[in-house]
Amino acid sequence: MKLGIVGSGYVGTTVAACFADLGHEVMNVDVDESIVRRLNEGDAPISEPGLGDLLSQYAGSSLFATTDYGDLVDFGPDVIFLALPTPSNDDGSIDTAVVEAGAESLGGVLGDIEDYPTVVVKSTVVPGTTEDVIGPTLELESGGRIGVDFGLATNPEFLREGSAVDDFTSPDKVVFGADDDRALDALESVYAPLLEKSDVSVVRTGLREAEMIKYANNAFLAAKVSLVNDIGNICKEYGVDAYEVAEAIGLDDRIGEQFLRSGVGFGGSCFPKDVNAIVAAAREEGYDPALLQAAIDVNDRQPQRMLDLLDSHVDVSGERVAVLGLAFKPGTDDVRNSRAIPIIEGLQERGASVVAYDPNEGAAAAIRERFPDVEVLASPSPTLSGAVATLVVTDWPAFADLDLEFDLMSGDVVIDGRRIVERRDGITYEGLTW
Ligand code: UDX
Repeated sequence: MKLGIVGSGYVGTTVAACFADLGHEVMNVDVDESIVRRLNEGDAPISEPGLGDLLSQYAGSSLFATTDYGDLVDFGPDVIFLALPTPSNDDGSIDTAVVEAGAESLGGVLGDIEDYPTVVVKSTVVPGTTEDVIGPTLELESGGRIGVDFGLATNPEFLREGSAVDDFTSPDKVVFGADDDRALDALESVYAPLLEKSDVSVVRTGLREAEMIKYANNAFLAAKVSLVNDIGNICKEYGVDAYEVAEAIGLDDRIGEQFLRSGVGFGGSCFPKDVNAIVAAAREEGYDPALLQAAIDVNDRQPQRMLDLLDSHVDVSGERVAVLGLAFKPGTDDVRNSRAIPIIEGLQERGASVVAYDPNEGAAAAIRERFPDVEVLASPSPTLSGAVATLVVTDWPAFADLDLEFDLMSGDVVIDGRRIVERRDGITYEGLTW
């Protein structure tokens, strides 16, 4: 099949490469010329395992990128995905301006695309956005009608950073949302090569249901992390090991063993944004989601608890303090909503001089840019050297091997926010929830 992908960010680029790998011909449209050039050269604009290999394999043969929506007309896609960002407004709600602008530009050429193209919203949007905002924009700009001249559907993604290509190839489920079978069938044809290979669950549902499934999925997982953090905080009060408790409750199939790692909380580009967005959207509709608000509050408090724990051991004013881990999770260069950010801010408020390390150079560079006063170093030893205390914020596996490096500290306090560092003689070890 021929597929158009509008937007070449994290999601657009990943699905474009993966769709090409399923045997489709793909055309990416993006306003950024440098991204388009890189895609056409087979060079990944984001760091994601396996993505570069796929792009170099398919660029120029079955994957093309352009800045011109008009190129879609000659290309003649059967299905066009809108994979544009929906960033947060100050009140937590989503800003749909970029998706709307994309729909407007696509609408301008949609009427000239032959046959019956199906437009699929992949962006994360609150229920009703596709039907009430994107659909009408496409109709207005194209002069055509949904269900008569073109189809409209949604297809949320559940890709994790660091394993997005694998998640695409081996999903737990795929979700197709549309209000008519023709649009759902078009989506099913796109995914057919993947569905034939494995017994993936296919959810065929309505537009609003599919939009809500995305939020419910992320809200549930984020709330699970906050719940396990709440329980972990209680464990700490009792001197109980929260990880032993989590392992035991995870044996109950109804609870499940995943997402039970308590600590300094969730970050990244999805969980904080999506939970805030669905809470804001629900309030707009007249419902106040108390539990999801609590999930946000608990998450916001975990870094503060880590700093309180530090305060209970040492006054860091005027002292050197080490932060290990800057990416929001291991295996990525992404520092968006990383728990390292409130931790660094809290340390600076206390008058500490902050030294930091992350094994990922991109994450290190991003923090260097955001916090010019923080010394971001290239390895753990000089980072720990002379530090009165060390705070571990990301569970990079390499941190489990740290040992003699701790002898370089001037103090001995190590606060572990991720249960990754080994206890050893010579340090005062404090786990956040154990
Ligand atoms: C998430 C969803 O998993 C994915 O399906 C969605 O499409 C995008 O958002 P991602 O943000 O890449 O993916 O990261 P994920 O691996 O889910 O972790 C999110 C955050 O939760 C990280 O900060 C991680 O450290 C934290 N987390 C996760 C915990 O604190 N404890 C856990 O047990 C699991």
